[in-house]
Amino acid sequence: MKKTIGGLAVLLEGNQKNRPIIFLHGFPYDHTMWSAQIAALSDDYYCMAYDIRGLGDSSVGDGQFTMESFVDDLEMMVEEFREGEKPILCAFSMGGYIALRALERMEDKFSAVILCDTASNADDNHAKLERSDVIRRINAQGLPTFSKNFIKKCYTDAYKKEHKEVVNKRIAKSMKFNSIGVKGCLFAMLTRNDMTSFLPSITIPTLVMCGEHDGITPPVKMKAMAEQINGAEFVLIKNAAHMSVVENPEECNEAIKAFLAKL
Ligand code: MLT
Repeated sequence: MKKTIGGLAVLLEGNQKNRPIIFLHGFPYDHTMWSAQIAALSDDYYCMAYDIRGLGDSSVGDGQFTMESFVDDLEMMVEEFREGEKPILCAFSMGGYIALRALERMEDKFSAVILCDTASNADDNHAKLERSDVIRRINAQGLPTFSKNFIKKCYTDAYKKEHKEVVNKRIAKSMKFNSIGVKGCLFAMLTRNDMTSFLPSITIPTLVMCGEHDGITPPVKMKAMAEQINGAEFVLIKNAAHMSVVENPEECNEAIKAFLAKL
């Protein structure tokens, strides 16, 4: 079922009596990046995936976003479930930035977290300059060039060769996003807090997953991140780069199911 909540495009799949999972997608994507996970989990879990404000079919508004406003949106989604229900968070990359900040602000609202191809650090000086340059380039050249170049970096060469149409479809979709929303997300990421010192304070069960060839949030960094979270499991996903959940859904889904079965 699709619905709009507070201006956000939301997909709800499964029986609402089951345990809820909220999926948070990455940048510059939309909720459809989770299709393989939702297909695999919606028989047993109540799955919610929404387009982050500014992206996909969600409202852009004034395009002035912060990590805090993204967490406020997530809190609004939690309120959609039965009172006292604590959803599991499954978050990818930028979604992971939102999830970590949400845990710092209100960990008691969630029962477990799955962090896929993400990072706990804030943008350093170099990354801030890069991100600002992306905003400048989107202003000068429009969104298509950025979408094409960035999305291509998210997949392995093998996947791009074998699934040309999937990748091209993803690029085409992203090119049509509202550039104000895309720039708003860049700004929110550029100004986010460093969450690394918070990692040892996480108390809910945590799964950390990373594509073995992820050059954007590399395995070595994600493994170090997992080591700072009490009892966190780390799973390396083979034959995948940044878009591990899309490139190798079988291994990702297996790891997610095994983790969820232990809760
Ligand atoms: C993402 O996949 O969400 C982005 O790579 C995150 C980022 O640009 O930091």
